[in-house]
Amino acid sequence: MNATEKKNESNMWALEYQGPGLKGYVRKKRPEISSPTDAVVRITKTTICGTDLHILKGDVPSVKPGTTLGHEGIGVIESVGSSVTKFETGDRVLISCITSCGSCDYCKKAMYSHCVNGGWILGNKIDGTQAEYVRIPFADTSLYAIPDGVDEEAVVMLSDILPTGFECGVLNGKIGPGDVVAIVGSGPIGLASLLTAQFYAPSELIMIDMNEDRLKRASEFGATTIINSGKENVIDKVMEMTQGRGVDVAIEAVGVPDSFDVCQNIIAPGGRIANVGVHGKGVELRLEKLWDRNITITTRLVDTASTSMLLKTIVSGKLKPQKLVSHRFALSDVLKAYDTFGNAQKEKTLKVIISNE
Ligand SMILES: NC(=O)c1ccc[n+]([C@@H]2O[C@H](COP(=O)([O-])OP(=O)(O)OC[C@H]3O[C@@H](n4cnc5c(N)ncnc54)[C@H](O)[C@@H]3O)[C@@H](O)[C@H]2O)c1
Ligand SMILES: [Zn+2]
Ligand SMILES: [Zn+2]
Repeated sequence: MNATEKKNESNMWALEYQGPGLKGYVRKKRPEISSPTDAVVRITKTTICGTDLHILKGDVPSVKPGTTLGHEGIGVIESVGSSVTKFETGDRVLISCITSCGSCDYCKKAMYSHCVNGGWILGNKIDGTQAEYVRIPFADTSLYAIPDGVDEEAVVMLSDILPTGFECGVLNGKIGPGDVVAIVGSGPIGLASLLTAQFYAPSELIMIDMNEDRLKRASEFGATTIINSGKENVIDKVMEMTQGRGVDVAIEAVGVPDSFDVCQNIIAPGGRIANVGVHGKGVELRLEKLWDRNITITTRLVDTASTSMLLKTIVSGKLKPQKLVSHRFALSDVLKAYDTFGNAQKEKTLKVIISNE
């Protein structure tokens, strides 16, 4: 091996954010262990999140040009720092989108999203998973062993979208047996809420979107009613369906003022509005209408506190999130994967799997 080859061995391919509107599939230095609690993982499968598209638009100023994107994926442990005790080289692991130190005040409350030493840092404040290798800080508390025989594409859905739809939507909305539930937005997150809402046997699951293909999938995944908000007046339709009462739980899974407004107009007395969407603009809160309705409004950044539980439901076959995968690409085609994911309506995209195997 000559000197150039040796030098190249310490390099890898990665999808890099290069400033608003700019990205590149580039050669970068392979990550190394920099703290005793780190692990370096060789990525085998990763995916793209709607949040990555927000970053590329320049909406997330914490992401600096030169950062490798991606906060989801699975892989194989390449090396571990001296104080990692739960994992060793060769272990297959799920990477959580939230890094947790396990010992700060927020981690002690299972509010890992606000971990003072971690939180959402992957593909944000540090290099992420859309690469051949990634460094994971606090490996013992931020990685999960993948059981043998489980569908790997299903496991990729556990890095972010399943815990998000479940924790921010279903748990915060306190869905119970017999509840009438409306989910505004049938993207991957809204559909993840739809799948996990069914743990609690609601009587109605109303899915709302303007994308016909996504609504069709929502029907296949258990929606009892679908409403195309581009064609129908959603508020009138829901109030008519519920004899003027409204819904017990409204999950906002879009992140724009309109979708929150639908939620506050269809909520029944005693109901819960669970906001999941990331909002870039203010929303008018209609307190003059809501003050006497005994409702609860919740917000949450995903904590991934439910990941172990959700993994068990995948192993048992109760939950099959692999059905959210619509397209597959090799890592070398990651730019094409971004085009397909960015044109969801035209390409009928939900989640894309990007493989490095
Ligand atoms: N709270 C968290 O921790 C967290 C974590 C991850 C993602 N998110 C956010 O959740 C939201 C949903 O994520 P996603 O990946 O499913 O996004 P997405 O963009 O793929 O899906 C949103 C869906 O909403 C539909 N839509 C747009 N405007 C609408 C309207 N007015 N009424 C009804 N439907 C409408 C779109 O057609 C699309 O299908 C995003 O805002 C995302 O940033 C939040
Ligand atoms: Zn995400
Ligand atoms: Zn912490």
